Amino acid sequence: MKPGRCLCVCVLLVLSMAGNGNGGNILVWFTEGSHWINLKPVLEALIDRGHQVTVLVPSSSLFMNASEPSRFHYEPFNSSVPLEVWEEIIEEFIHFSIYEMDYLSYIQIHIKFLEIAKKEVKFTLQHLDSMVRSDTMARLREGKFDLMLADPIYPGSELVAEVLDLPLVYTLRFSIAHTWERLCGQLPAPPSYVPGAMSKLTDKMDFMDRLWNFLFYASQDMFAYHVWQETDKFFSDFIGKPTSACELMGKAEIWLIRTYWDFDFPRPFLPNFKFVGGIHCKPAKPLPEDLEEFVQSSGDAGIVVFTLGTMVTNMTAERRDMIASALAQIPQKVRCQPSKKSKCVSSLLIDSGCQHQTLRLDPSE
Ligand SMILES: *[C@@H]1O[C@H](CO)[C@@H](O)[C@H](O)[C@H]1NC(C)=O
Ligand SMILES: *[C@@H]1O[C@H](CO)[C@@H](O)[C@H](O)[C@H]1NC(C)=O
Ligand SMILES: *[C@@H]1O[C@H](CO)[C@@H](O)[C@H](O)[C@H]1NC(C)=O
Repeated sequence: MKPGRCLCVCVLLVLSMAGNGNGGNILVWFTEGSHWINLKPVLEALIDRGHQVTVLVPSSSLFMNASEPSRFHYEPFNSSVPLEVWEEIIEEFIHFSIYEMDYLSYIQIHIKFLEIAKKEVKFTLQHLDSMVRSDTMARLREGKFDLMLADPIYPGSELVAEVLDLPLVYTLRFSIAHTWERLCGQLPAPPSYVPGAMSKLTDKMDFMDRLWNFLFYASQDMFAYHVWQETDKFFSDFIGKPTSACELMGKAEIWLIRTYWDFDFPRPFLPNFKFVGGIHCKPAKPLPEDLEEFVQSSGDAGIVVFTLGTMVTNMTAERRDMIASALAQIPQKVRCQPSKKSKCVSSLLIDSGCQHQTLRLDPSE
């Protein structure tokens, strides 16, 4: 960390804490789905504290809308990758996760994952190419930004931060097997003690579990390096000298981790990894009347809110019934929560009569 950059980040943090009007000028990298939903309230809070916020938005975005009225400045760019391509990739990934993965061996899953990831990286780099070679880049150079804030899920923020010489702040939940945090952020994670994210292991591992965890890390690292080959090539071409994407990611000053240490298994952290779980939460409002009644009627067991996130829009009747029958086995009452984009949950409500099932799902009724 260069001292100048560190100072800059510290100054910004102090400014944000003091709620001072002399805010910083923050550039925000584009993202999608729940990542964007998570980020938006944070940006609102930054504006409340007197910062200026500029958000990059690709023309083919599923969730970001540069024409909506907003307090932050949207900086749109035309992407050569059409919306339909993103929809297709997401559809393929979701179909694989919901309907295929359970019937495949680890190796088969790995191969399919790599196939989807390579396709995704190819289009993501095309997307990035549209941005860095457009007029947008010239506007960013003139933008006099103090800081880049990015969710690293879409690569490129580290490249643009490097080119514009901006300190980079990441916001991240986790990467699979903590690959980015370990390999790029230098987070120590001994495989005998720290279960890889999404390995389904806990911190209570016997010898075979530890061996499996070690192999899980190794296979995910190979996967990451394989995918980075393309990114490195792109970054090197753009900068004009050999450049490693992971090394640029490692230059991030601060990693804001969207959880808390007590939700995770104990593991070592570094001082520039900060837990900010719930940063997007707002003070609770009273529940709507029908929901309040539902909660009050739930008794000691309480309720479970069931939602399929931002990307799943439909589901086969068979899978719907499977979920409903699983939910029927828990003592809590279940409420299906429709989300803005999700037709899926409303089809759960309509097709299989989820609302009625809510009553039927409660074994005491
Ligand atoms: C984007 O926002 C504008 C203005 O609110 C609205 O008219 C338009 O329908 C929105 N576009 C999408 C794709 O939601
Ligand atoms: C995107 O392309 C359209 C049509 O070519 C053009 O009118 C518009 O100004 C471009 N937008 C940006 C942000 O470059
Ligand atoms: C869900 O919708 C997508 C695209 O709209 C379609 O390709 C897919 O077959 C649908 N899946 C199910 C299970 O209906």
